[in-house]
Amino acid sequence: MDLRSARAALQIARRVAVLTGAGVSAASGIPTFRDAQSGHWARFRPEDLASPEAYAADPELVWAWYAGRYRDVLAAQPNPAHHLLVRLEQQKGAGFFLATQNVDGLHARAGSGTRGGRLAELHGNLALARDEVTGEVFPLPDPAQLSLPPLSPAGHRMRPNVVWFGEYLPEEALRAAQQAFAQADIALIIGTSAVVYPAAGLARDTLLGGGKVIEINPEPTDLTRLASFSLRETAERGLDLLLTEHLNEH
Ligand code: OAD
Repeated sequence: MDLRSARAALQIARRVAVLTGAGVSAASGIPTFRDAQSGHWARFRPEDLASPEAYAADPELVWAWYAGRYRDVLAAQPNPAHHLLVRLEQQKGAGFFLATQNVDGLHARAGSGTRGGRLAELHGNLALARDEVTGEVFPLPDPAQLSLPPLSPAGHRMRPNVVWFGEYLPEEALRAAQQAFAQADIALIIGTSAVVYPAAGLARDTLLGGGKVIEINPEPTDLTRLASFSLRETAERGLDLLLTEHLNEH
C-alpha cells in the first residue's frame, strides 16, 4: 500500500478502529511515556511509579507524580491530531471506534465519542480517582484545591483511576475494543510503541478478522511489519496526509 491507496482504503472503509498512544499528545506538550522524565522525576522510571507496589510503598510519592501530571494535562490543549480524529468519527459514525492508552483525557476534550462513534479510555483517566474501599469513582477537584491523598465523600483514601502495571484493563471497554478491532476494515495505530499488552494486540485482531493495519509513527515499532502501510510521520501530520483533501492532488 502507498499513501494514495491508504487514503482510498480509509475513505471507503465502513468500520475504522483507531488505537492511540502517547505520541498523539506529543504536540500538546505532554511527554511520551518512554521519554526521559525531567527535573525531580528524572530519578524515577514511570514503570516504577505506575504500579500497585509503588503506591503501597509510598502513596504520597505516587500521588505527587500524578497530581503534577494532572496539572500539566489540564493546562494542555488538544492538538490537530485529536481534532482530525473527531472529523474521522463524524464521517464514519457508528463505524468508528477509538481506543486510547492515554490517560490525559484530550480525546474526550476534543469531542471524540460524541459524533456517533465510541471512545474507550483503556488505561483510565488522570482526572478521576477511585475510593479504595468502595471502588466508586469521582472527579478530582481543581489542582489548586487538591490535597493529597484525596479523600472520597465517605472519607476514604482514593487512588488514581488509572490502570497500573500488573492490573487488568476495564473489562467492558477492552471487550468492546477487541470486538471493534476484529470487525474493522482498517485499524489505524497512531503514536504508540505497541509494547504494552493487551492494547498492542488489537491490531492482530483486525488482521485475523480480514482487515488491514495502517500505522502512523515517526519511528518503526513491533507492529510495523504487520502493517499494510506505515507512515513515518508525527500523528498530526500523518493524519492530515491521510484524511485531508490536498489542493495539489489529482
Ligand atoms: P510510549 O512512550 O511507549 O510510545 C510513544 C510512541 O509515540 C513512540 O513509538 C514514539 O515513536 C511515538 N511518537 C513520538 N512522538 C510522536 C508524534 N509527534 N506523533 C506520533 N508518534 C509519536 O507510549 P505508549 O505506546 O502510549 O500504560 O505507551 C503505552 C503504555 O505504556 C502507556 O499507556 C502506559 C505505559 O505502560 C500504563 O501505564 C498501563
